[in-house]
Amino acid sequence: MLLDSNEAKISALRIISRCNELAKITCEDIGITRLYLSKEHLIVNKLVGQWMKESGMSVWQDAVGNICGRYNAKFICSPAVILGSHLDTVKNAGRYDGILGVLSGIEIVYWLNKKNIRLELAIEVIGFGDEEGARFGITLLGSRGITGTWKNKWLSYTDNQGISIEQAMIKFGLNIKNIYQASRDKKDIAAYVELHIEQGPCLEQENLPIGVVTNIHGARRFKCSFIGESGHAGTVPMKYRKDALFAFAEWMKYVEYTTIKKNSQLVATVGMISCNPGSTNVIPGIVNFSLDIRGPQDIMLESLSSLLLKQGKVIANNRHLIFEYKEYYRTSEVICDSILRNILCTSIQKIQGKSILLPSGAGHDAIAISERWPVAMLFIRNYRGISHNPEESVDINDIALSLQAYSDGICNIIKKKAEY
Ligand code: GLV
Ligand code: MN
Ligand code: MN
Repeated sequence: MLLDSNEAKISALRIISRCNELAKITCEDIGITRLYLSKEHLIVNKLVGQWMKESGMSVWQDAVGNICGRYNAKFICSPAVILGSHLDTVKNAGRYDGILGVLSGIEIVYWLNKKNIRLELAIEVIGFGDEEGARFGITLLGSRGITGTWKNKWLSYTDNQGISIEQAMIKFGLNIKNIYQASRDKKDIAAYVELHIEQGPCLEQENLPIGVVTNIHGARRFKCSFIGESGHAGTVPMKYRKDALFAFAEWMKYVEYTTIKKNSQLVATVGMISCNPGSTNVIPGIVNFSLDIRGPQDIMLESLSSLLLKQGKVIANNRHLIFEYKEYYRTSEVICDSILRNILCTSIQKIQGKSILLPSGAGHDAIAISERWPVAMLFIRNYRGISHNPEESVDINDIALSLQAYSDGICNIIKKKAEY
């Protein structure tokens, strides 16, 4: 059972127009930046909640700020299959990352409701409030609310204006005493199926609109510093300097060389750097920067991070500087459920003649959800694989095809899960 091509085209048009509408709700004047627990997050929740209602769902905002909708099964108390993704963005983001998954879930329910179809299991659509971690530095706060793995210590974490998660939650209208209420019982959810743009070039290279995710790579994140000594840019001869930026530059070359040499599935990124004191005529005394490492297995991540961090120390020693680091975030590789995966592959084969499996280098809400329930993901090709960038773009025909595959996959997953 799936949307016919005409229905899928109309739904895809509505999705694009809604993505454009949501793109206007941004915390900054230029580009799209929508942060967790911001007033824009509240506005988006209201709007998406309204669309959920119009598609036939009962709607609530949960205790950590996720917007949730439920479309009941034939029997009111049946467990649900969850569809969804996130509504927050990175800074200066594209308009589809996460958002496309939430809006596609709503379209699946809209179609079922219009046809008056009730399945054996309920469908819930969730717009997660925080996947990116762009505001507080830790990610997946929305989905960790659902799994009940919120940590109390997170409440004191602050954004770059010194506002804590606790303060932001209160301002948003949430009660921190109720956080546990967002947590869902294991038995109430049968599976999680997330549709997302690929954010990489593989589907485009294969000339295919849709793919199925095998595994989501793990990550390690560190805050690091080279600490030297600032001084006069004109007077101190080069050989007497403790220039933190030259140490950093030497280390960066090592990072690129070593990561490439080690394994083609490993990636390392330094996305944030601040050079202090930051004057033209002062030798850089301290360089603070982030390090993000991704890859499939824990053992590979462990080995690469230890090489890179050790070399930081070596370079610092040679130059009489100090190298410091602190790991503040890690996730392990997630393997998508093989039964769900096979069902999605069969649905995709029906639509595009063949199916393709690919790993996800990006993090997703499915990472947290997999701690409690089986997860699967479907990827849609995006233009040149560009994401986390305003140039992010998806073809409307690809969205239509993916809705056909997604609807067929969801119906078959529900049929299968209802047998248990
Ligand atoms: C989220 O999109 C991430 O992978 O960083
Ligand atoms: Mn993202
Ligand atoms: Mn995303």
